[in-house]
Amino acid sequence: MQPVVLIITVLAMAAIAAVFAWAIWAPPGAVDPERAERWRIRTIVALTLAGVVLAAMTLVPWPHAPQAGPTPGIVVHARGYQWYWELDRDTVPAGTPVTFLASTADVTHGFGVADPQGRLLFQVQVIPGYVSRVDWTFDRPGTYRVICLEYCGIAHHEMMGQLTVQPGV
Ligand code: CUA
Repeated sequence: MQPVVLIITVLAMAAIAAVFAWAIWAPPGAVDPERAERWRIRTIVALTLAGVVLAAMTLVPWPHAPQAGPTPGIVVHARGYQWYWELDRDTVPAGTPVTFLASTADVTHGFGVADPQGRLLFQVQVIPGYVSRVDWTFDRPGTYRVICLEYCGIAHHEMMGQLTVQPGV
Protein backbone atom coordinates (compact mmCIF):
# COMPACT_ATOMS: atom_id res chain seq x y z
CA MET A 1 0.00 0.00 0.00
CA GLN A 2 2.71 2.50 0.93
CA PRO A 3 4.60 2.28 -2.43
CA VAL A 4 1.28 2.92 -4.21
CA VAL A 5 0.63 5.99 -2.07
CA LEU A 6 4.19 7.17 -2.72
CA ILE A 7 3.79 6.79 -6.51
CA ILE A 8 0.43 8.60 -6.49
CA THR A 9 1.94 11.41 -4.38
CA VAL A 10 4.96 11.80 -6.70
CA LEU A 11 2.72 11.80 -9.81
CA ALA A 12 0.39 14.39 -8.25
CA MET A 13 3.36 16.57 -7.29
CA ALA A 14 4.74 16.29 -10.84
CA ALA A 15 1.36 17.32 -12.27
CA ILE A 16 1.20 20.35 -9.96
CA ALA A 17 4.80 21.27 -10.85
CA ALA A 18 3.92 21.02 -14.57
CA VAL A 19 1.01 23.44 -14.09
CA PHE A 20 3.26 25.90 -12.27
CA ALA A 21 5.97 25.55 -14.96
CA TRP A 22 3.37 26.22 -17.64
CA ALA A 23 2.09 29.29 -15.75
CA ILE A 24 5.63 30.65 -15.45
CA TRP A 25 6.95 29.94 -18.95
CA ALA A 26 3.88 30.13 -21.18
CA PRO A 27 4.29 32.83 -23.82
CA PRO A 28 2.13 35.96 -23.25
CA GLY A 29 -1.35 35.56 -24.70
CA ALA A 30 -1.11 31.76 -24.77
CA VAL A 31 -3.86 31.46 -22.15
CA ASP A 32 -7.36 32.75 -22.76
CA PRO A 33 -8.43 34.17 -19.33
CA GLU A 34 -12.09 33.15 -19.75
CA ARG A 35 -11.18 29.61 -20.74
CA ALA A 36 -8.73 29.43 -17.85
CA GLU A 37 -11.45 30.57 -15.45
CA ARG A 38 -13.84 27.89 -16.73
CA TRP A 39 -11.19 25.22 -16.23
CA ARG A 40 -10.37 26.54 -12.79
CA ILE A 41 -14.01 26.22 -11.70
CA ARG A 42 -14.36 22.76 -13.27
CA THR A 43 -11.18 21.59 -11.55
CA ILE A 44 -12.30 22.87 -8.15
CA VAL A 45 -15.74 21.24 -8.52
CA ALA A 46 -14.20 17.93 -9.72
CA LEU A 47 -11.64 17.83 -6.90
CA THR A 48 -14.30 18.68 -4.30
CA LEU A 49 -16.59 15.91 -5.59
CA ALA A 50 -13.69 13.44 -5.69
CA GLY A 51 -12.79 14.38 -2.11
CA VAL A 52 -16.37 13.89 -0.88
CA VAL A 53 -16.73 10.54 -2.69
CA LEU A 54 -13.36 9.23 -1.44
CA ALA A 55 -14.08 10.35 2.12
CA ALA A 56 -17.53 8.71 1.98
CA MET A 57 -16.00 5.44 0.71
CA THR A 58 -13.71 5.24 3.74
CA LEU A 59 -16.81 5.34 5.96
CA VAL A 60 -18.59 2.40 4.28
CA PRO A 61 -17.23 -0.27 6.70
CA TRP A 62 -18.51 1.74 9.67
CA PRO A 63 -20.02 1.21 12.11
CA HIS A 64 -18.82 -2.33 12.61
CA ALA A 65 -21.44 -4.90 13.53
CA PRO A 66 -21.73 -5.47 17.28
CA GLN A 67 -19.53 -8.34 18.42
CA ALA A 68 -21.42 -9.21 21.57
CA GLY A 69 -22.57 -12.59 20.30
CA PRO A 70 -21.69 -15.97 21.75
CA THR A 71 -18.02 -16.67 22.31
CA PRO A 72 -16.95 -19.06 19.56
CA GLY A 73 -14.11 -20.92 21.21
CA ILE A 74 -11.79 -20.57 24.15
CA VAL A 75 -12.34 -17.75 26.62
CA VAL A 76 -9.39 -16.08 28.33
CA HIS A 77 -10.13 -13.63 31.14
CA ALA A 78 -7.42 -10.99 31.41
CA ARG A 79 -7.35 -8.66 34.39
CA GLY A 80 -5.09 -5.66 34.63
CA TYR A 81 -3.47 -4.51 37.85
CA GLN A 82 -0.83 -1.88 38.57
CA TRP A 83 1.38 -3.34 37.20
CA TYR A 84 0.81 -6.79 35.86
CA TRP A 85 -1.63 -8.83 33.84
CA GLU A 86 -3.45 -11.78 35.33
CA LEU A 87 -4.69 -14.31 32.79
CA ASP A 88 -6.87 -17.21 33.88
CA ARG A 89 -5.07 -19.31 31.30
CA ASP A 90 -1.73 -18.63 29.69
CA THR A 91 -1.77 -21.33 27.04
CA VAL A 92 -4.08 -21.56 24.02
CA PRO A 93 -3.97 -23.68 20.88
CA ALA A 94 -3.23 -22.26 17.44
CA GLY A 95 -6.05 -22.29 14.92
CA THR A 96 -8.85 -22.10 17.50
CA PRO A 97 -10.85 -18.90 18.04
CA VAL A 98 -9.98 -17.25 21.34
CA THR A 99 -12.13 -14.65 23.04
CA PHE A 100 -10.27 -12.33 25.38
CA LEU A 101 -12.40 -10.66 28.02
CA ALA A 102 -10.23 -7.95 29.51
CA SER A 103 -10.99 -5.90 32.60
CA THR A 104 -9.11 -3.84 35.15
CA ALA A 105 -8.88 -3.93 38.91
CA ASP A 106 -7.72 -0.34 39.25
CA VAL A 107 -6.99 2.20 36.52
CA THR A 108 -7.27 2.23 32.74
CA HIS A 109 -4.84 -0.08 30.97
CA GLY A 110 -4.27 -1.01 27.34
CA PHE A 111 -4.49 -4.76 26.77
CA GLY A 112 -2.26 -5.65 23.85
CA VAL A 113 -0.80 -8.87 22.49
CA ALA A 114 2.36 -9.00 20.36
CA ASP A 115 3.59 -11.96 18.34
CA PRO A 116 7.00 -13.64 18.92
CA GLN A 117 8.60 -11.09 16.55
CA GLY A 118 7.27 -8.26 18.70
CA ARG A 119 4.63 -7.13 16.21
CA LEU A 120 1.43 -5.90 17.80
CA LEU A 121 -1.52 -8.10 16.84
CA PHE A 122 -4.28 -6.21 18.60
CA GLN A 123 -4.94 -3.94 21.53
CA VAL A 124 -7.98 -2.72 23.37
CA GLN A 125 -8.53 -0.15 26.09
CA VAL A 126 -9.47 -1.64 29.42
CA ILE A 127 -11.56 0.83 31.40
CA PRO A 128 -12.76 0.51 35.01
CA GLY A 129 -16.29 -0.89 35.09
CA TYR A 130 -16.24 -2.36 31.60
CA VAL A 131 -15.23 -5.64 30.00
CA SER A 132 -13.41 -5.26 26.69
CA ARG A 133 -13.67 -8.10 24.24
CA VAL A 134 -11.30 -9.16 21.49
CA ASP A 135 -11.80 -12.27 19.32
CA TRP A 136 -8.58 -13.59 17.87
CA THR A 137 -7.33 -16.78 16.22
CA PHE A 138 -3.59 -17.34 16.49
CA ASP A 139 -2.12 -18.76 13.30
CA ARG A 140 1.24 -19.87 14.62
CA PRO A 141 2.54 -21.43 17.82
CA GLY A 142 5.03 -19.47 19.86
CA THR A 143 5.57 -17.29 22.86
CA TYR A 144 3.45 -14.16 22.65
CA ARG A 145 3.76 -11.12 24.86
CA VAL A 146 0.92 -9.46 26.70
CA ILE A 147 1.68 -5.77 27.10
CA CYS A 148 0.09 -2.62 28.41
CA LEU A 149 -0.44 0.18 25.89
CA GLU A 150 -1.93 2.82 28.13
CA TYR A 151 0.21 4.78 30.54
CA CYS A 152 -0.97 3.59 33.95
CA GLY A 153 1.63 4.76 36.42
CA ILE A 154 5.26 4.60 37.34
CA ALA A 155 5.81 0.94 36.36
CA HIS A 156 3.62 0.94 33.24
CA HIS A 157 6.57 -0.28 31.16
CA GLU A 158 6.95 -3.31 33.44
CA MET A 159 3.39 -4.45 32.83
CA MET A 160 4.11 -7.46 30.68
CA GLY A 161 2.86 -11.01 30.60
CA GLN A 162 3.22 -14.05 28.47
CA LEU A 163 0.87 -16.17 26.42
CA THR A 164 1.94 -19.47 24.93
CA VAL A 165 0.31 -20.61 21.71
CA GLN A 166 0.68 -24.35 21.26
CA PRO A 167 0.42 -26.21 17.95
CA GLY A 168 -3.24 -26.75 17.18
CA VAL A 169 -4.85 -30.17 17.17
CU1 CUA B 1 -1.08 -0.84 32.62
CU2 CUA B 1 0.19 0.71 31.41
